[in-house]
Amino acid sequence: MSFDELWADLSDVGRDPRSGGYRRFAWTRADAELREWFAGAAARRGLDVTVDRCGNQWAWWGDPDTGPGIVTGSHLDSVPDGGAFDGPLGVVSAFAAVDALRDKGFQPGRPLGVVNFCDEEGARFGIACAGSRLLTGALAPERALALRDADGVTMADALAAAGRGTDVGRDDETLRRVGAFVELHVEQGRGLADLDAAPVAVASAIWPHGRFRADLPGEANHAGTTRLPDRRDPTLAYARLVLAARDAAERHDAVATCGKVRVEPNGVNAIPSHVTAWVDARGPREADVRAVLGELSSLTERAGGAFVEESWTAETPFDATLRDRLVATLSGVPVLATGAGHDAGILAAQGIPTGMIFVRNPTGVSHSPAEFAERADCLAGVTALTAVLEDLLGAPA
Ligand code: GLV
Ligand code: MN
Ligand code: MN
Repeated sequence: MSFDELWADLSDVGRDPRSGGYRRFAWTRADAELREWFAGAAARRGLDVTVDRCGNQWAWWGDPDTGPGIVTGSHLDSVPDGGAFDGPLGVVSAFAAVDALRDKGFQPGRPLGVVNFCDEEGARFGIACAGSRLLTGALAPERALALRDADGVTMADALAAAGRGTDVGRDDETLRRVGAFVELHVEQGRGLADLDAAPVAVASAIWPHGRFRADLPGEANHAGTTRLPDRRDPTLAYARLVLAARDAAERHDAVATCGKVRVEPNGVNAIPSHVTAWVDARGPREADVRAVLGELSSLTERAGGAFVEESWTAETPFDATLRDRLVATLSGVPVLATGAGHDAGILAAQGIPTGMIFVRNPTGVSHSPAEFAERADCLAGVTALTAVLEDLLGAPA
């Protein structure tokens, strides 16, 4: 089965007919379909599928216990109204690379794994890379299981409804099998397009980044009869927070986004009783990102609210030896840092040699239905991944 067939198979799963974007949230019906697709693609290739304690799917060419193996892959879930490429491109390219290696008659010297990490975007329960964080122990099982989605469903209940147990947590048996991990991903900015040099690049590092929640209290009251001086309207503090996030990010060479908000009770003729706002902050240097967050925290506290860290990921440089090897295999392609988070970063933080290959994104748009990569560049990505795997799999463990 070619890249195009694998790609076409996925194109309707979890697609919202109004926005044209994807709503592929962890442990939902769409997610179950994607997991079935993964198992089917593995079965058609004679790969053995295992599922670790945390629900991540692994498809193995060769016995993974004769490893450690080389693993590639990515995730299949999406942000709300996400694009087609963020995640699936890495999984589809992984299967396409297996096909390409077999077409050449290549015999791997060590096991090759294709992985589908679950819940990478954290769109449902709020913590990004939940599957790989649980797998590596970076996220405590008790905390994860108690997380709630927008309808109040806990992750524990969602796992049970999806037919999975709740025995999630660090899985050393699985981690031992991973000698190195290479994740192919669509680029999520204009780094490669602006360079106009090559369809693929190799990653150097992931910026430090985190998600924070501002709880802004107010007092519900009538929109027509409550005099302005008598109001405690939390949307005013929210508006200040949004503007301050932009202003502080500009001054500190960082980025900050207030992309999610909940207004209660959300009635047009009622002053809200509460606003919950989420801030995503990132940047090349942790001190700068922390400076932005410090300002937003002070502003929230002055408004009588609380500014709470939901997750933090330190700057993650990728293994320099593996990075240089990827660059050499790919004849000196560009090397780029990224402001996007990835499961590859979570594995790298555990000391697993990890690298990433980025595929050019002509507009840089991502986390949007408009996310795109040219077919020729996707195929160049498969060729690059195939070359990298051939090199790594030929080497002794
Ligand atoms: C994941 O894509 C993230 O960077 O938030
Ligand atoms: Mn993403
Ligand atoms: Mn992704």
